[in-house]
Amino acid sequence: MRSLSRLVLYACVLLAVSCVKAPPETSTAGTTRAAHSGPVRIGFSMDTLKEERWQRDKELVEQRAKEDGADLDVQVANGDDAVQTKQADNLLTKGVDVLIVAPHNGEIAASIVEAAHRKGVPVIAYDRLIMNSDVDLYISHQVARIGEMQAEYALQHVPKGNYVLIGGSPTDYNAILLRQGQMTVLKPAIDRGDVKIISDQFAREWKAEEALRITEDALTRTGNNIQAIVASNDGTAGGAISALEAAGLGGKVLVTGQDAQRDAVQRIVKGTQTMTIYKPIRTLAFDAVDAAIKLARKQPVNAPDKINNGKKDVPAILLEPIVVDKNNVDSTIIKDGYHTREEIYGH
Ligand code: BGC
Repeated sequence: MRSLSRLVLYACVLLAVSCVKAPPETSTAGTTRAAHSGPVRIGFSMDTLKEERWQRDKELVEQRAKEDGADLDVQVANGDDAVQTKQADNLLTKGVDVLIVAPHNGEIAASIVEAAHRKGVPVIAYDRLIMNSDVDLYISHQVARIGEMQAEYALQHVPKGNYVLIGGSPTDYNAILLRQGQMTVLKPAIDRGDVKIISDQFAREWKAEEALRITEDALTRTGNNIQAIVASNDGTAGGAISALEAAGLGGKVLVTGQDAQRDAVQRIVKGTQTMTIYKPIRTLAFDAVDAAIKLARKQPVNAPDKINNGKKDVPAILLEPIVVDKNNVDSTIIKDGYHTREEIYGH
């Protein structure tokens, strides 16, 4: 066994990629998990199914687990940290071999990692990073890059003007990474005086109503003089667009987004939302399930990227996002079957 893991280690060094190994099983208070021969048991702890994308994540994780012959138990916390922690505990008590966690709060979820590791159960952070913890693997898209893409798109189309920045939930590290990416790109234009930031806020719980309020406030303060809204996802873009429409500015202000959710893509072809970021969820979900099975079996997982979570460099798989506007909806989202032509154009 020892020589096998040494071999794996050498292979990883040779391939120059980081390989993730499951944590050793520790026996606490006389409880060691007995190795079992049946299918791998995966627990998937989700924050929410609110945004359309998460329903897709759930369905695709279920599909892949079935294809791979794994048992899957999915729990959804509906935005409640106490519920998510309890559901994760229950999954561990039921004896899952590995946990996939899409955390509501990236800091609080560190306790889930600790509880899992006490039982020798590896944890994958799904889409959102789990902070200050010894989490085994992070699978997501290149989140800071998404922020850059949103800002690059905005600057290319509106090189000068008044901007509103609408971030996501501050308890979701993705919201922070997005803002970092956006600011990297916008800073030189701000310093030159080309771009003026009218409002720079985060929408609690990624709520559309918060985005609506932030936009209304910015419109009032400037006498409707806003040229671009860098909204961090499609939900907040929707809120911003409602405020613009109420002010008679629908389609006249550039609005970014993320997720390629159906209503947002409909708005893009209609002209009220300018762009979104398309993240093909299938790859994310399938990679997560495949990696979970490997970790549960104590097999190495190739993780070409890494990201610091405040405690360590977490081995990561970071997938590529795609910019979508009305010019490439057909050749991306519709071509992939993410939405059908009829769903988007109505015919
Ligand atoms: C995800 C986005 C999603 C948002 C709200 C983020 O962590 O990356 O895709 O829109 O959460 O659920």
